[in-house]
Amino acid sequence: MTNEKTNSVGRLGFGLDWQYRDSYPQKMPDLCARYAGRLSHLSCVSLPSAADARTFMDECAGDLPVVHHLPGVAPAAPGGPNLELFTRLEAVSDVLGAVWTCEDIGLWSIGPYPLPYFTPPLFEREVADHVVDGIRRMREVSRYPFVPEIPSCTLAAGRMSLGEFFHRVTDGADCDLLLDVAHVFSYAVAVRRSYEDVLRSLPLERVVEIHVAGGYIDPTFDNRYLDTHSHAVTPAVIDLLQEAVANAPRLRAVTYEIGVGLGAEELDSDFERIEGLLAEADWTPTIARPSGLATAGTA
Ligand SMILES: [Fe+2]
Repeated sequence: MTNEKTNSVGRLGFGLDWQYRDSYPQKMPDLCARYAGRLSHLSCVSLPSAADARTFMDECAGDLPVVHHLPGVAPAAPGGPNLELFTRLEAVSDVLGAVWTCEDIGLWSIGPYPLPYFTPPLFEREVADHVVDGIRRMREVSRYPFVPEIPSCTLAAGRMSLGEFFHRVTDGADCDLLLDVAHVFSYAVAVRRSYEDVLRSLPLERVVEIHVAGGYIDPTFDNRYLDTHSHAVTPAVIDLLQEAVANAPRLRAVTYEIGVGLGAEELDSDFERIEGLLAEADWTPTIARPSGLATAGTA
């Protein structure tokens, strides 16, 4: 039971995938219990139903604020967002009391056919405008703000840079931005640009959440970054995180996305490393449960 003061409030949240709830170094509820008091929030993807969301709240999140990471609503898909799925998932957001919803801007499948790997959109003005239109349509059917995420880039095609594309998307939709610093790094690696320059090119003033995760550059193909979530966080991504935290004035949450291949010690040491970096930057999260969902005893 916590009566400690502000420094007992966690600085960092976990990014979890419900499909793998039994496959992390510990089962999801045990993992969350182990880091209790050090977590600021949770983000969870692939919750299929309100019943699963209830289990997640009861067994994992408790009183923590929760971000609902959507699974493939895909406003960048050629046919626009899957509003049927999105509307159905509103019931999950309701149970979570989602602070916001989010999703990477890209493609996982073409119709019923899954792609071999997640693919970023073509970086073209028409595609950015199509994404803006999709986000507006999502807004019409949801009570929760949708925050687009910078995608992982195994390739970069189109006449716009990542920065130009996301300025156009966030200006057009007038929305916040989720900055995944490993994804920023993947783009820098794919286009062989300095990652600091890529970071500076993005609309950092719109960033409310940062994702950080482990991965590595393919040793046999050096312009591909493998965004595994199951390896240590690479030093360049730590640099990017530090730089992003210092330059994102509206940042409310930092989420460490973990994969099932991580060992308990690797997870622990990266969690501690990121926690330490945030403490050194004197940064504290401001993510909170929506007021209607304030927990018992909260004024
Ligand atoms: Fe992410």
